[in-house]
Amino acid sequence: MEFSIKSGSPEKQRSACVVVGVFETRKLTLPAELVDHAASGYLAEIVRRGDMDGKAGSTLLLHDVPSTLCDRVLLIGLGKEKEFRDQAYCAAIRCAVKALSETGAADGTLFLTEIAVKKRSSAWRIRQAAIVAQETLYRFEQFKSKKSELRRPLRKLTFAVERRGELAPGEEALAQGLAIAAGVALARTMGNLPGNVCTPTYLAETAQQLASEHGLDCQILEREEMEALGMGSLLSVAKGSVQAPKLIVLQYQGGRQDEKPLVLVGKGITFDSGGISLKPGAEMDEMKFDMCGAASVLGTLKAIVQMKLAINLTVIVPSAENMPGGAASKPGDIVSSMSGQTIEILNTDAEGRLLLCDALTYAERFKPATVIDVATLTGACVIALGHVASGLFANDDGLARDLLQAGDEAQDRAWQMPLWDDYQDLLKSNFADVANIGGRAGGAVSAACFLSRFAKKYDWAHLDIAGTAWKSGADKGATGRPVGLLAHYLIARAGKLN
Ligand code: BES
Ligand code: MN
Ligand code: ZN
Repeated sequence: MEFSIKSGSPEKQRSACVVVGVFETRKLTLPAELVDHAASGYLAEIVRRGDMDGKAGSTLLLHDVPSTLCDRVLLIGLGKEKEFRDQAYCAAIRCAVKALSETGAADGTLFLTEIAVKKRSSAWRIRQAAIVAQETLYRFEQFKSKKSELRRPLRKLTFAVERRGELAPGEEALAQGLAIAAGVALARTMGNLPGNVCTPTYLAETAQQLASEHGLDCQILEREEMEALGMGSLLSVAKGSVQAPKLIVLQYQGGRQDEKPLVLVGKGITFDSGGISLKPGAEMDEMKFDMCGAASVLGTLKAIVQMKLAINLTVIVPSAENMPGGAASKPGDIVSSMSGQTIEILNTDAEGRLLLCDALTYAERFKPATVIDVATLTGACVIALGHVASGLFANDDGLARDLLQAGDEAQDRAWQMPLWDDYQDLLKSNFADVANIGGRAGGAVSAACFLSRFAKKYDWAHLDIAGTAWKSGADKGATGRPVGLLAHYLIARAGKLN
């Protein structure tokens, strides 16, 4: 799909469909008023008759509105003007794109992007519009024999800005939005792929493909190399599976040569059966999403590379399949991590941290400025925060603040949880340096505390995305979160967030 930015009057657009907003109750936005004025009160009369009351989510499609140059005018209800904040804005864009895609129009010009949103810039509105539009049009149908068909596929979307001065910042924001959307789509598709397709080997191939497309440095570490590095913890996770584990490393050099890289680490468990501590059967299929951390850091990398952001970014994906084979780890087994710390595996289903701790130690060799890991780590995080916010843990308050801010900007929010030493006692083991579980109470925190023991040499944050990486039920599917949060954080770090 093609996207563009434009300034101009709605009634003068030669477009298949002009999209304007109406507030509850029945108050036209400025672009709607301009159309109404040109059409001598045509919209006001329709609204007066009650066919469009401005309720959030309502739509009305009009054809051949007098004295306009467009074929159609699509009215979008925006809800109460006082409550029109960022969420309502994104909902309106989603509603408009969905309605537009159900018409016969092959292109649309959205004037919703001109509506003021409290505390948000015009660039923010454009960036979000691009992200939300692409997210709305996303389909995952590669395993369906019959694909869903649009009446006429939408080929072009144009976002309107009020003033010509907003065109240039709008173009940059649009490019950022489309890059983020491409990253989100990649993360969603990888997440949605079934476990029999998306194996550690498949993840490695996807990384290599990304590297060759964009000229990145890519290294895949095999079992033997990981053995030589002493990654006994990571390797223990893969022992019950016939799928070979992989440690994927991708490096993007957008900044100065001597600049320390930012490192993203993503949990890449391509299926989590629980291992010998086998999970119950209900909804076990959803454990194909246990590589969504990996998918999100690869998606973020794609977005950053597409934007050519001037930063150095390294992505590390430790990947394995957690299965209960004859050689699998057993409860009570003790393994030795790359850091030298020994770990007693009390539950083989707490495999994410076993995989990540060695990747966090491996990250030290890149002399990182900051390390952020992303993982579908604990069911306890879902109990704590539900499906709205990702859990955020950090050993540096400035980093935590910046990530929370980025989540807010991106409408992909996180909420900070404690990492206090008081919780470390939960991980005591009678037989090794540390146990891999800390009991049910505070499960998301003890998991983060476990990781913190391996992240002492740099500023570090951990995002537990167990509740946000995918949706269950009728809309089952990967969300692509937290690509939005991470990309906004990196754009802000590069000083490019307007
Ligand atoms: N991948 C799961 C976490 C998870 C569970 C995410 C449900 C989303 C929904 C992780 O590997 C796991 O199994 N964690 C255990 C840890 C426990 C054994 C300490 C959990 O949360 O039950
Ligand atoms: Mn598990
Ligand atoms: Zn898991």
